[in-house]
Amino acid sequence: PAPLRLGLAGLGTVGIGVVKIVQRHADLIAARAGRPVTITAVSARDRAKNRDADLSAYAWETDPVALARRDDVDVFVEVMGGHDGPAKAATEAAIAAGKDVVTANKALLAHHGQALAEAAEAAGRVIRFEAAVAGGIPVIKALTEGLAGNQMRRVMGVMNGTCNYILTRMQNAGLPYETVFEEARQLGYLEADPNLDVGGIDAGHKLSLLAAIAFGTKVSFDRVELEGIGNVSIDDIRMADDMGYHIKLLGVAQMSGRGLEQRMTPCLVPAESPLGQLQGGTNMVVLEGDSVGQIVLRGPGAGEGPTASAVMADVIDIARGFRLSTFGRPAATLVEPVAAKSATP
Ligand code: NDP
Ligand code: HSE
Repeated sequence: PAPLRLGLAGLGTVGIGVVKIVQRHADLIAARAGRPVTITAVSARDRAKNRDADLSAYAWETDPVALARRDDVDVFVEVMGGHDGPAKAATEAAIAAGKDVVTANKALLAHHGQALAEAAEAAGRVIRFEAAVAGGIPVIKALTEGLAGNQMRRVMGVMNGTCNYILTRMQNAGLPYETVFEEARQLGYLEADPNLDVGGIDAGHKLSLLAAIAFGTKVSFDRVELEGIGNVSIDDIRMADDMGYHIKLLGVAQMSGRGLEQRMTPCLVPAESPLGQLQGGTNMVVLEGDSVGQIVLRGPGAGEGPTASAVMADVIDIARGFRLSTFGRPAATLVEPVAAKSATP
């Protein structure tokens, strides 16, 4: 069978992780997908940069839009980041050129998910984004496939590893926020714009994507009630501890009479609960459905291997011929997140 040919835009942490899996597991992937998966071309800003992988077999494009349009690319893999600029332009170009898309970019989908999903479906293409939410945890697949027969009641969890690292380190070492924030910066945990992490924005992006799938609503990041962890003091943590609680940046999405409620805020959780015990950069997502009850998924929310693992799961799905709509149902059927007004005068 013909190989599935990838165009890989982004050769940073995630992109190099994808290269390594494609190279290391070529036979395993071909066996599982029923056809080989190859990389034909790659793109990044700086061609001269020393990278931790052998890229010599791949064509190079400095412009990701040109990569997205190449005739020898079937699937455009976007692991550059940013919600506007080249990531958006190249994703749109890929869809227009008849390519499927796999992305790890939660910011892009939180801002433009509805428009991109509609464009992809109109063109008969798919966009997959397992890596965008909770890194290596297959939470999108759990919601769209494993729990497809459930009316979802609630989605909640800890979805930003950097914030969880900062909060648990404050808790365990008794250190103030500023000291641990600096530590996280030194360790390379923080996004280039740290406010994406500590402002709760990155976690809010992820929650808005899960909510769209769970409740069939249009992605509505602008309606997430957001509060980051910048105001959590060591005194808050000590006081919570005295009462038997830990502070976590917790996201909750559920339907109420007013429509979709989405909150990403620091919360008190019982210290001995699984959420309260969640350490370091780990993520935990809790899914509640009417038939299944509660499912808890826990694992690495970031990093080269875990995130590339999720990207490859999407690639293999596409190689197998699996054509799932972006948010698990046709984009045109997603409804506004506000409750319909009552007809009663
Ligand atoms: P990095 O910053 O490590 O890598 C970004 C890559 O994109 C670099 O290779 C960079 O090129 C390239 N790039 C950036 N801008 C352009 C451009 N204009 N044209 C061409 N190439 C460009 O990011 P990550 O790998 O960490 O993240 C990638 C995506 O995955 C993001 O959307 C992120 O949110 C998401 N993600 C990341 C996770 C993680 O653990 N890192 C976890 C889950 C999701 P160059 O190398 O030349 O500078
Ligand atoms: N900055 C994110 C985090 C990366 O800390 O969870 C993974 O999405």
